Amino acid sequence: MVQNPAFLDSETKLGKELKNTHKAWKQAIAEPGQEFSSTPLPVLEGTIPEYLRGTLYRIGPGRLSRGGIQVGHWFDGDGAILRVHFGDDGATALYRYVQTKGYQHEVAAGKLLYGNYGMIAPGRFWNHFLRPLKNVANTAVIALPDKLLALWEGGKPHALDLETLETQGIDSLGALKGGLTYSAHPKRDPQTGEIFNFGVTGKFKGCLNLYKSDSTGKILVSKAFSLDWLPLVHDFVLAGEYLIFFIPPVKVHGLPVGLGLRSYGNSMTWEPKSGTQILVFDKQTLSLVSRSETEGFFLWHFGNGYVDENGMVMIDFAGYEDFNINQRLKELPTGELKTPTKSGLWQLILNPKTGKVKAVEKGYNHLAEFPMVSPLEIGQKWRYTYFLGFGKGTNTTEEFFNAIARIDYKTDSLTIADLGENRYPLEPTYAANPINPQSGWLLTIVYDGNNHTSEVWIFDSEHLDDEPVCKLELPSVIPLGFHGIWKGN
Ligand SMILES: [Fe+2]
Repeated sequence: MVQNPAFLDSETKLGKELKNTHKAWKQAIAEPGQEFSSTPLPVLEGTIPEYLRGTLYRIGPGRLSRGGIQVGHWFDGDGAILRVHFGDDGATALYRYVQTKGYQHEVAAGKLLYGNYGMIAPGRFWNHFLRPLKNVANTAVIALPDKLLALWEGGKPHALDLETLETQGIDSLGALKGGLTYSAHPKRDPQTGEIFNFGVTGKFKGCLNLYKSDSTGKILVSKAFSLDWLPLVHDFVLAGEYLIFFIPPVKVHGLPVGLGLRSYGNSMTWEPKSGTQILVFDKQTLSLVSRSETEGFFLWHFGNGYVDENGMVMIDFAGYEDFNINQRLKELPTGELKTPTKSGLWQLILNPKTGKVKAVEKGYNHLAEFPMVSPLEIGQKWRYTYFLGFGKGTNTTEEFFNAIARIDYKTDSLTIADLGENRYPLEPTYAANPINPQSGWLLTIVYDGNNHTSEVWIFDSEHLDDEPVCKLELPSVIPLGFHGIWKGN
């Protein structure tokens, strides 16, 4: 935990002048992403680092409308994957939609047929029952030795070919029977290669299903744990020997969903008086260690966690004092963001044996999202957390993220890489340097609204405030998206 961190001071210098209010980000989602086959990428500036060899996979909603109908929420778009491969002959890219059954049905029909997180099925009332949900396979990817998984927390993974992105179909990972789901944020233990994940099921009360897999993704152990309500849980954190969940006071009401009257996203209530529950599990046995509650807050994403020398857990995450973010993400497909949030990049210390929270710091008091660390540091003490934030003078209510930020827990400092006017990065992905794993690169996809293009930007992770070491031109605009992963050679 940092005391009186210097970044609290530096962060307040973001400024009051609102210069970046052009909202050019909306052009990045105005049209569906266009698939392209394997294409060499021209270098625009700099050079590809000599030891950067491997593949970046990124996923997000590729299209937010069909047949003249817009989806109800950013989460509802069909998943499309960008693959950027770095070899000795340069970089090549490939962009493909995940061929889910729902996607294929809608392509054939030329219109939206299914309901989703933020919309009920269009058309006649019986469609609400017949087509309540489409697995959009749009949220995150994990690269296994023999396949890529496209993840969506409401269902099972889709497996794809690592090179061609050909969709192979639903993958149960050897254990996902019936209605069991597999969430979009599995954690890979860098020391053992084991993969941990969860899925929430239930119509009225929630059931938290925990999974422990080997390095191939095959589920070896699973356990189910009853929850007090049906919550919205998107992520968890691996911290030393623990798996830790924050169950926010967002309650999904199953009846209107079951009757086909409202979508999931429109059937939730924010009840902060219920508090946020903290569940700590032993990662080996998947058994409960402690259960407690603290003040009510919301989060989508954790950054990282570890156990310190006194046995206390330190965690950082992108926290929210309210649930306005759901409304904000509902607005995003319309191209107009209006709803502000009270949020930031927060740190929390807790006693894992009791679950009691000892302290909370708030290190960056603007909307922050997609916190991440080097995959080699997951669950262990770490130095840098990277996330998306805002450059100086940005109207943070109306704009999309336009900067990559980094908190340095060693120096208690904050670095903000402002990408310039009308440029919008996606979640950075960390690629470790195989020659010196303590260093590496940050890869991101930047939408440049000045000329309506998308580019691959590569930063030296140690010198985030310097110019990128390389910029590459993509063949077409990649719509704003969610998560990515790096698979080294
Ligand atoms: Fe996520």
